[in-house]
Amino acid sequence: MSTSTIEQPHQLSQEPINPHMRSQPDYSLNELVRDIKLYLGDCSGMDASDINADYLISLMQKYKSDPNDWLRYFNNLPGKNYTRNAIENVNHKANILLLVWKPGKGSPIHDHANAHCVMKVLFGNLTETLYELPTQQGDAASPMVVKSEKTYNVNEVTYISDEIGLHRVSNPSQDQLAVSLHLYTPPNAADIGYNIYQEATGKASFIPQAQAVVPES
Ligand SMILES: [Fe+2]
Repeated sequence: MSTSTIEQPHQLSQEPINPHMRSQPDYSLNELVRDIKLYLGDCSGMDASDINADYLISLMQKYKSDPNDWLRYFNNLPGKNYTRNAIENVNHKANILLLVWKPGKGSPIHDHANAHCVMKVLFGNLTETLYELPTQQGDAASPMVVKSEKTYNVNEVTYISDEIGLHRVSNPSQDQLAVSLHLYTPPNAADIGYNIYQEATGKASFIPQAQAVVPES
């Protein structure tokens, strides 16, 4: 399969995606979204400290990727390294997104706007490079420090918050798309904005209100 063919969404939907991923749908994406909404409905304020991230991680682990669940949200916009597709906006309590990563492409280094971020690989592989938070900027700027790097496979889940550090997510494959499921709570990056960072200097730039493709109803 060449890069040019799998960059087209209809091509992905027509491909017989790895049949090993088609496990019995014991716990569907709809059920996962339902359980996230049920849980966050009990959170009074929407400060990140109100949220039990371990519980949300366990829900994300419980779901096993089934393209039949998520292809309806799939868009791979031309000219974008990755496309953010909205699955659910939980009433200013969370965003659930499907991200589609072109081969060999990735995100800038970014923070998470004082929110929890849980990421699950649904197709392909994704590499997470974790960085220390820069301590100095301007004239005293220095290259950002890598804490760790790990590649995640289908159905693996990772978690990050600003307390852990900053990260860049990238698709290590040169010829295959990657698809991931993201839960952000509270949805501060979408409601307010977030910062991206230059690796060489640690310089931060504010990005207002992260946008996503909203599916037609
Ligand atoms: Fe992130």
